[in-house]
Amino acid sequence: MPVAADPPPYYRLHVFVCSNRRPDGHPRGSCAAKNSESLRNYLKARAKELGLAGVRINSAGCLDRCELGPTLVVYPEGVWYGYRTAEDLDEILETHLLRGGRVRRLMLRPEDGPDGGHAVA
Ligand code: FES
Repeated sequence: MPVAADPPPYYRLHVFVCSNRRPDGHPRGSCAAKNSESLRNYLKARAKELGLAGVRINSAGCLDRCELGPTLVVYPEGVWYGYRTAEDLDEILETHLLRGGRVRRLMLRPEDGPDGGHAVA
């Protein structure tokens, strides 16, 4: 939660896209093994084409929700998505990043995960 004296956010939205790659056969898998690098490049290119103002899309290391990946998280909302395809990213881009809505079918809840996740108290 922001404190009153905090400066305003530098970016309107900051998107972190996991690009971590683990060796083949790793029990947790990895987002890059599920095509996250090329999908991230697609998202960045589409965001640029659309001229999204105040939105930064960055590659991230492991976000520790590997089994649900590929994953990305949008701040300042802290909304997580698990996506699979370029069409999924188009929907996130148009619904969330452009219009401020949510793509419910792709959202990850704190309790989602192989061990029930770790919801914040
Ligand atoms: S490899 Fe993407 S969340 Fe861990």
